Amino acid sequence: MTQPKKLYIKTYGCQMNVYDSERMAEALGGQGYVETSSAEDADMILLNTCHIREKAAEKVYSELGRYRDLKDAKPDLKIGVAGCVAQAEGAEIMRRQPLVDLVVGPQSYHRLPELEAQAGQGRRALDTDFPEEDKFVHLKARPKAKRGPTAFLTVQEGCDKFCAFCVVPYTRGAEVSRPADRVMTEARDLIERGVREITLLGQNVNAYDGHDRGLAGLIRDLARVDGLERIRFTTSHPNDMDEDLIAAHGDCAKLMPYLHLPVQAGSDRILKRMNRQHTAEQYLTLIGRLRAVRPDLHLSGDFIVGFPEETEADFQATLDLVEAVGYGSAYSFKYSPRPGTPAAERPQVAEAEKDERLQRLQALLTRQQRALQDAMVGREVSVLFEKPGRMPGQMVGKSDYLHAVHVTAEGLAPGDLRRVRVLESGPNSLKAALV
Ligand code: 5AD
Ligand code: SF4
Repeated sequence: MTQPKKLYIKTYGCQMNVYDSERMAEALGGQGYVETSSAEDADMILLNTCHIREKAAEKVYSELGRYRDLKDAKPDLKIGVAGCVAQAEGAEIMRRQPLVDLVVGPQSYHRLPELEAQAGQGRRALDTDFPEEDKFVHLKARPKAKRGPTAFLTVQEGCDKFCAFCVVPYTRGAEVSRPADRVMTEARDLIERGVREITLLGQNVNAYDGHDRGLAGLIRDLARVDGLERIRFTTSHPNDMDEDLIAAHGDCAKLMPYLHLPVQAGSDRILKRMNRQHTAEQYLTLIGRLRAVRPDLHLSGDFIVGFPEETEADFQATLDLVEAVGYGSAYSFKYSPRPGTPAAERPQVAEAEKDERLQRLQALLTRQQRALQDAMVGREVSVLFEKPGRMPGQMVGKSDYLHAVHVTAEGLAPGDLRRVRVLESGPNSLKAALV
């Protein structure tokens, strides 16, 4: 029997890349590859990259540089670059880094087996097309192996919003939804393999139109599948939160009370320049409507500080909005000019100013996050257990609100969904006991 070839995948960036990496590993499984967790052992290294900020993109080149010795020691080693840097800078990667054998964009990775075969014959392969065909239809059926209790499931890709700072509409292309029947088939398959919580993914997931009643229709259909206990979705745009999706947060018990709803900034002047197409007040009104149907909803957001021409007063408006909302979690970033996006050409805020604003915003967000987490102490919540913790007899899972929760108890197994009482709130997680 021939030895299986070993594949090492390193994933950067968002959850969609995590999902894509799984599908790429499966696609290469058909070529005789099994996954390894060590680059040193690999016959093929694949970097699944992120282009959202400059730092994320630069990591790719420094990581590739580190593989020179591995390639010298094993000339047959294949090195591939996938994901959004591949899409945006494919030809440039090939030019800058001769170590790279294969470049594949996020819309063409169903062609990986052919690209790998081409690279195997010593011809460098590049595919950054936006093909007509649906990659999911062309990918092999997913293997039947048992899985952990949580899974990501991509239902929508791409973005038509063109926020002035963002590369996604260029790297991932126009908004495309997968038909609901195919999503349902993939979901049922995941559930049969042990999955109890599904997170529906899309760059603009609430613009999903593969179901005649939109994302809420898909969620309601999924909620009827026995064995599936929890549904989440990410990432959403405020302007695509329709009536039924808001209502689902109140009446669909399997839809978890956690919503990632980025606003980016609190100043209307900046929101306009960002091309967000909504005001701060419209966002706050939307949050009010969501909380009216689900008062305990935990909100999460993304923020950019130091967007071109952001003044201290604009930044203060972001702090005010954060105070008004009270976020359960949040991600905040310094604005990073991205080639080809409109905002990159505008007058920039000084780096020191960005640093200072980021620190102030993060201090406020951390305070809020911690206060909401501390308020969980004494409360009863459900936890879906995922894996053993570091202590003997300990299991780690997630609460409905996505807090990490540690419980020490006999007989708990991954996939168990149990009620717990929260005992303590630590820096990044809760400690709880079964009730
Ligand atoms: N600079 C900084 N942050 C950015 N994001 C997107 N583009 C940029 C950029 N050019 C952030 C946004 C988005 C998140 C995924 O990344 O906050 O919601
Ligand atoms: Fe980027 Fe999100 Fe704006 Fe689309 S909606 S352009 S993905 S920030």
